[in-house]
Order: sequence, then structure tokens, then C-alpha cells
Amino acid sequence: MKLLSDYFDRLLPIVEADLQTVLTPADNAPPLFYRMLHYHMGWVDENGQPVETKRGKRIRPILCLLTCEAGCGDPNAARPAAAAVELIHNFSLLHDDIQDNSPTRRGRTTVWKIWGEAQAINAGDAQFALAFLAIPYLQKESKDPALATHMLKILGETCLELTRGQHLDMLFEHRETVTTGEYLDMIKGKTAALLRGSALLGALAGGCNEEAQQHYALFGRNLGLAFQVLDDILDIWGDPALIGKEAAIDIHQRKKSLPVLYGLERSEELQKLYAAEDPFDDGQVAEIVALLEQIGAHDYAEKLARHYSDETLRHLAEAQPQGEAAWALNELVHFLLHRDR
Ligand code: IPE
Ligand code: IPE
Ligand code: MG
Ligand code: MG
Ligand code: MG
Repeated sequence: MKLLSDYFDRLLPIVEADLQTVLTPADNAPPLFYRMLHYHMGWVDENGQPVETKRGKRIRPILCLLTCEAGCGDPNAARPAAAAVELIHNFSLLHDDIQDNSPTRRGRTTVWKIWGEAQAINAGDAQFALAFLAIPYLQKESKDPALATHMLKILGETCLELTRGQHLDMLFEHRETVTTGEYLDMIKGKTAALLRGSALLGALAGGCNEEAQQHYALFGRNLGLAFQVLDDILDIWGDPALIGKEAAIDIHQRKKSLPVLYGLERSEELQKLYAAEDPFDDGQVAEIVALLEQIGAHDYAEKLARHYSDETLRHLAEAQPQGEAAWALNELVHFLLHRDR
């Protein structure tokens, strides 16, 4: 019997090798310039020595390769796009950790905490440029220049949508109230755009027809919506040792995550706590978490995640994925939406 881990075992080394190719230091590069990127990718420690540490889950490139495989039977056509989406993801996290004041990621100190905000912004910028360069660098024989141009356009539009979402996410920290509709529009940008882009680029590389491409795009978007709702749940109720981040960073940062905005609509006590200007101390954070649980914010968020999970699977079926990769895509959805990290 096949397992999803067989797919990861087969595809992850390809993804990792391609990422290393794109992140090979240029001749004139000062050593620390690339070291920050290699550290963030989980390849080296802060002194540049190779380490075995928790890397990202690499779900975006896996999604991209599997979508391509489900379209044409061969994942190789999507390799440049797969590397590109993982690099975009990591660029966004380099900046996100500064924006969210996060000291840890994947169980390690964040780049900005080690080398300072100014250098971490610059490292993110470099990662952003390399994400776009992944397409021409990895497209060995430029068989179809029009395809590469189309992919770069999708990547650019995806990034713009991601930064629109990040803009709203930060804006909402300073707003008293945010509606569920506004929240969903925000996560459609900050998280769902890149999962949508990953699936769409895979479908494009796999030669899927226009209708299937659109279903794969909606499959990715709905997966992203469910994924972010779960990320919000894990921030509050997950185990910090597993998620690799400090507990309740969203509450400390006054994020309007889904459980929080649900609570703010229903609890005057919570509204009062959020109305005070001073940063929350650990006791107040514990009080907020208990309050959220009590008024059913956890259950509500889980229900919404299930709704988007159902939509994800519906669009996947309509995209008519072929072969064993179709099974793997279904399993991937299940794995991502029942995760504890
Ligand atoms: C974290 O994404 C950022 C979000 C969009 C919620 P992942 O949970 O995919 O991060 P890594 O790459 O596996 O660490
Ligand atoms: C991250 O969202 C989204 C992007 C970086 C675009 P979060 O801020 O919720 O991600 P984590 O919780 O820090 O991983
Ligand atoms: Mg953020
Ligand atoms: Mg964050
Ligand atoms: Mg989060």
C-alpha cells in the first residue's frame, strides 16, 4: 500500500536540490549574505555550519509537483515553479517575523533576532528576487518561453495578493472590530494566494486545460483558507514544542485572528481587555485564552476550517486529477488539515 510519506520521500530531495541550486552563492557574495538565507531554510546554523534541524514542511512545492503529476503524469515540468513558490513563502516569512515581532520560527531564533531587522529585511528582498530567478535558472532548455512568461506573471500577481493580505493583517491589529468577511478577505491574500498559486502553476506546467486549471486554483485557495484558520487555532491551542513558535504570539500582537474576532463580537470582557493600550502580560493572555475557549471560539474556528476543507475536496474532484497523484493530493489535504504543527 502507498503512503503519503512515499510521495514526500520521492519529491522532497528533488525540491531541496533545486532550492540549493537557486541559492548557490554568487562569486562576489559576502559569506554572511547567503548564510542568512541558508540559516532560514534550515540548512546551517548561525555560524554557517551544516545542521540537522526542523525545516519547513515544504507543502507548497509538494502541492505544485503533485498537481502537475496529476495533470500529465510527470512532476518534472513543475520543478522551477515548485522552487519558486517555496522561495516566495520563505521570503514572506523573513519579513513576517519582523512584522509580527516573532522571536522563534521552526523551533529556532528568527533571522531578525540574530542579525537585526535591517539585515533581515534585506535577506527577505534577496529571497524574493531569487524566487523569480528560480524560473529561468531551473528551466534548463527553454522549450517554451511563453510558458515561463506566463508563470512569472502568475508569481508576480500571487505576491501582490499576498502583500495585500499582509497589509490588511497589520492594519487590523489597530482596528477595534473586524468582520468575518474582512478576515476571510485578508487570509485569502496572505495565505490562500500562495497555495492557490502553487496548485495553479502545477496545473499549468502539467498541461491541464483551462477549466481544470480554474478548479485547481480554487482547490488551492480553499485549502489555503482552511490552512490559515488552522494556523490561527494552533497559535492559541497548539503545543509550542510542535509548532516551533512561541505560544499565543497572535494574542500578544493583538492580531484579529479568527478565534479572537469571534470572541470580540460576543464578550464585553474581551472587548475591555483589548481596549486597554498596554501590552498584555502572560496572566492576561491566559485569561483571554480561557475566555475564548469558554465562549466557543475554538469550536467555531474548527467548524469553519471543516467547511473550507469540504470546498477544497469538491474542487479537487472537479479538476479530475489523474493517476496515483490524485490519491496523494487528497491525502495531502487530509494531512494539512489534521496537523498539529
Ligand atoms: C506558515 O506556513 C505561514 C502561514 C501561511 C500560516 P507553514 O506552516 O507552511 O510554514 P513552514 O514552511 O512549514 O514552516
Ligand atoms: C503568515 O501568517 C502569512 C505570510 C507570511 C504571508 P502568520 O503570521 O499567521 O504566520 P505564522 O503564524 O507567523 O507562521
Ligand atoms: Mg503575520
Ligand atoms: Mg507571523
Ligand atoms: Mg499564524
